[in-house]
Amino acid sequence: QTGYVTLDRGYKNTGATKSAITFLDGEEGILQYRGYAIEDLAAKASFLEVAYLLIYGELPTKEQYAVFETAIRRHTLVNEDMRKIFDGFPVKAHPMGVLSSLVSAMSAFYSDIEGSSEEDKTDLHIIRLLAKLPTIATWSYKRSLGHPMNYPKNQLDYIPNFLNMMFSLPVEDYKIDPVVVEALNVLLILHADHEQNCSTSTVRLVGSSQANIYSSISAGISALWGPLHGGANQEVIEMLEAIRADGGDVSKYVDMAKNAKTTGFRLFGFGHRVYKNFDPRAKIIKKAADDVLSKLGVNDPVLEIAKGLEEAALHDDYFISRKLYPNVDFYSGIIYRALGIPTNMFTVMFAIGRLPGWIAQWKEMREQKEPIGRPRQIYTGATLREFTPLSKR
Ligand code: SDX
Repeated sequence: QTGYVTLDRGYKNTGATKSAITFLDGEEGILQYRGYAIEDLAAKASFLEVAYLLIYGELPTKEQYAVFETAIRRHTLVNEDMRKIFDGFPVKAHPMGVLSSLVSAMSAFYSDIEGSSEEDKTDLHIIRLLAKLPTIATWSYKRSLGHPMNYPKNQLDYIPNFLNMMFSLPVEDYKIDPVVVEALNVLLILHADHEQNCSTSTVRLVGSSQANIYSSISAGISALWGPLHGGANQEVIEMLEAIRADGGDVSKYVDMAKNAKTTGFRLFGFGHRVYKNFDPRAKIIKKAADDVLSKLGVNDPVLEIAKGLEEAALHDDYFISRKLYPNVDFYSGIIYRALGIPTNMFTVMFAIGRLPGWIAQWKEMREQKEPIGRPRQIYTGATLREFTPLSKR
């Protein structure tokens, strides 16, 4: 090997870049977007305000917000020819696979835009992604039900528009419940960015080759789908349901997780690469779960199972010694389910929330003119050897 390579599998101790977007303190459980505490933003801001903050660096003035929000409102329609791509998917295709394919396809439908500068063109791509992702997301859900796909309505705000496309039917309008809108607003804000996580690093790496923003975001959606990352929120609910069906004995599952080497079982929704005391988002979501379910009059038995599982794990040496605490995915699915969102759409909800963060990080990477990402390796393969022709093998 020429030169000196430090091996750091999973980049556990590697800083990939300098960024001014999101600050995490894993020991103190601190999460700030552009210097604003996540607790403040979740309680006081709208998701589109937070999207603007992450992407442009400052909270928007009233005028800036009006321009941004209006532009998004006017770009929610998706090119009708994209429906043909939908029709090619099996009806039961997982919505994450559909979403990453359709976002990648956006590069074919929206790449040639006139714009005075690269910056103007990027701003328009950003508006199109924020505006069209919810529409595309709901279409895969409606198709999986055999229901007609709904079109966005310009008179609805961002989250009510999403809910209406998800749940309204030609035979019956959907009544927008402010409790549901507020709960989704909090959840989308909590998922909006998280510094250099797996999917964000993917977006940056793909974008570092000068690939277009749609292809970069599509790659991020694919990375998020994994059960160790965003896909965990779906795994958590399936795990809690399995515990419930198995009599609700959480200690049995804690023991299975402690013998992960033999059982291959992990407690989904637990553990985090950075947070080693608690995930501040999990704290907010846990409280929101109680509030939302009681306001909606929903009594979901898996909420008590989740709390029992958290209690058991937090008092068990295996988890304490490894600093494993509930992460953002542990309670989020319980709220999504109470809002009527189906399990296979949970990771899509994560993607809708994380989109502004991916965009902000891609934009920063480009503005900072980061070099193309190209790590090295420690070679462990064969040393030089002679080729033997096939006739002799
Ligand atoms: C997200 O990076 C981000 O910020 C991600 C995210 C974001 O906002 O973008 O926060 C979103 O992805 C949250 C994480 C969702 N994933 C899950 O809930 C899946 C379950 N969790 C784990 O797979 C794991 O904790 C990770 C992937 C989250 C973190 O993995 P690490 O940092 O590589 O830790 P590790 O796998 O090396 O685990 C350290 C030890 C191991 O035991 P030993 O080998 O030391 O004996 O802890 C054990 C692991 O076996 N362990 C678990 C466990 N998580 C880790 N044991 C049981 N259950 C678990 N959930």
